[in-house]
Amino acid sequence: MAFYYEEPSRTFSEYLLIPGYSSVECVPSKVSLETPLVKFEKGKEPELSMNIPMVSAIMQSVSDDRLAIALAQEGGLSFIYGSQPIESQAEMIEKVKRYRAGFVVSDSNVSAEMTLQDVLRLTEQTGHSTIAVTEDGSPNGKLLGIVTNKDYRVSRMTPDTRVKDFMTKLDDLVYAQEETTLKEANDIIWDHKINCLPLVNKNQELVYLVFRKDYDTHKKNEYELIDSSKRYMVGAGINTRDYEERVPALLKAGADILCIDSSEGFSEWQKLTIDYIRRNYGDRVKVGAGNVVDAEGFRFLAEAGADFVKVGIGGGAICITREQKGIGRGQATALIEVAKARDAYYEETGIYVPICSDGGIVHDYHITLALAMGADFIMLGRYFARFDESPTKRVNINGSYMKEYWGEGSARARNWQRYDMGGDKKLSFEEGVDSFVPYAGSLKDNVNLTLSKVRSTMCNCGAINIPELQQKAKITLVSSTSIVEGGAHDVMLRDKR
Ligand code: IMP
Repeated sequence: MAFYYEEPSRTFSEYLLIPGYSSVECVPSKVSLETPLVKFEKGKEPELSMNIPMVSAIMQSVSDDRLAIALAQEGGLSFIYGSQPIESQAEMIEKVKRYRAGFVVSDSNVSAEMTLQDVLRLTEQTGHSTIAVTEDGSPNGKLLGIVTNKDYRVSRMTPDTRVKDFMTKLDDLVYAQEETTLKEANDIIWDHKINCLPLVNKNQELVYLVFRKDYDTHKKNEYELIDSSKRYMVGAGINTRDYEERVPALLKAGADILCIDSSEGFSEWQKLTIDYIRRNYGDRVKVGAGNVVDAEGFRFLAEAGADFVKVGIGGGAICITREQKGIGRGQATALIEVAKARDAYYEETGIYVPICSDGGIVHDYHITLALAMGADFIMLGRYFARFDESPTKRVNINGSYMKEYWGEGSARARNWQRYDMGGDKKLSFEEGVDSFVPYAGSLKDNVNLTLSKVRSTMCNCGAINIPELQQKAKITLVSSTSIVEGGAHDVMLRDKR
């Protein structure tokens, strides 16, 4: 006879935290959000940890090199998506590892033959007003000039005006060689009263842009997540099919940690993948596994040797797995059960295996709840997709800016490796949708705001760090009527003008 769970499975919005005593010492500025990323033995320090408990989802529409850099600057980690050729994924990893803070690879580029209309479209898509003009229109092509909004007046020019007729040409441009240090670049920017300095190599090809505003911003990254060579840390998604080729390439490119990306991880495929890594690299290479939603699944992956275990099936914003296949579990219930299993495993073996709550974060407080329920860190997709740094297009829909966000199980991503159960090598049916999310600005501003709420709530619970929160948190279920009470109610909101 089938096994029946007595209780319904629940999600974050059905819970609240009850404040505990907080001393005058317990203030947000003193809260530490440091958290382990990989397993460790009792009494020892984890080999890898993060300064904030946030990682970005292994998705085409979320985690590329640009978002990875922005998140590492704030203290978290991205897992670059694996649903792309091995070479391009390795290249993204290399870009993060090569990144020099303050030096940006230009993301808005045109050729001289393109038109004002192309420039305006690009500005709308990327939100950037400095556009490099290169011979082939690529980010590292031969530099011919720069276009900024000071170079054109839309009302006085026709949309088909060629870029070559209004760009600032190389002869009139201040630029420097790629060896220039950030300090030197900044001095040139100030001496010439410019906003952006292009750096070129000896073939006159564009390598980086240095912006006036980035110099000050860089100095403010107090939590940045760096390796022993002071390079930003970055993770990479792998699958259970091509790991023999993919893993060596990603490690060569400099990936600091891997994560097996699968919609359902309680399977022999995951064990085989971890076995391959242990056989070839021992414990030197760190690899997370998942996703699971119960104690049995956790124990299987912990015993298989996973460095962390990811929790969650069916809770993602773009996910239709529950509708399509009828598998999954409310994210809060799944997390609570797996956290108990993690603690029992620790008690029994002396090995602490961090768990990551993956998907379903709608409000910022869900992050605090997930931590209180035992998550060591949280993986987010929709949250990061909304920012400037995510890889997708920004579009204007009925006067509002939106960013594209699509699931790895959608026909658009065609990530069959994440869903295939060892059969067809194709996505037989969709488990995700293609959608838009409201554009929200820069990653830095949003992450800082979110974490200020997390820190503040932690103080309400009398907790100065994450382990203390997990120990002290008092969590209550809320009835559906009191959920209504939780928002503004019985008032008529004034227009926000
Ligand atoms: P979100 O933070 O709620 O947007 O959820 C992101 C998570 O959803 C990812 O980390 C994946 O675990 C999961 N996911 C990504 N793409 C799909 C999909 O197409 N179907 C189901 N789940 C998905």
